[in-house]
Amino acid sequence: MIQETVLTTSLLLMAILAGLFVWVAAGAGAAVTDHGSIAASAARVRNVTFGVVAIALVAINYRTLGSLPQAATFTADPPSTVIREARVTGRQWSWTIEPSTFVVGQTAEFHVTASDVNHGFALYDPDMHIVAQTQAMPTYTNVVRYTFTKPGTYQVLCLEYCGLAHHQMAAQINVTAR
Ligand code: CUA
Repeated sequence: MIQETVLTTSLLLMAILAGLFVWVAAGAGAAVTDHGSIAASAARVRNVTFGVVAIALVAINYRTLGSLPQAATFTADPPSTVIREARVTGRQWSWTIEPSTFVVGQTAEFHVTASDVNHGFALYDPDMHIVAQTQAMPTYTNVVRYTFTKPGTYQVLCLEYCGLAHHQMAAQINVTAR
């Protein structure tokens, strides 16, 4: 829905811009004598555009930022599961995950940080569906929990472009059946 709106708006603006180019190109050869009235009409257009954009920006900000900050989405203590803490550190270009083996039913509480630049911690289940993600940031620790529901090899991939070998920044988490 948002993507469609953005796409439509972008296409509309591109069309207006293209139209302006055509209009300017078409009039490029014409002789101009009345410079004063051209300057005055340009100033009018500029003032009206500025006013419209300013009002639109205030409205958009009010509409989109009104509900911030958003509440954390995980519950504090999920019942009937065992929480195991895991320390995760991202660096160019590898992950350290300690521990990296879990049992089905266990909830991993990943404490995620980085030692150099920002990385993206993304956890993929054995079917390569993303099941959890957070930012790995220097000097800051993000906490994300995930309860393993099926055994197998989970992949941790970097979801934030972090340099030349970003695509090779991968690690495995093994989850065994109960
Ligand atoms: Cu680390 Cu991309």
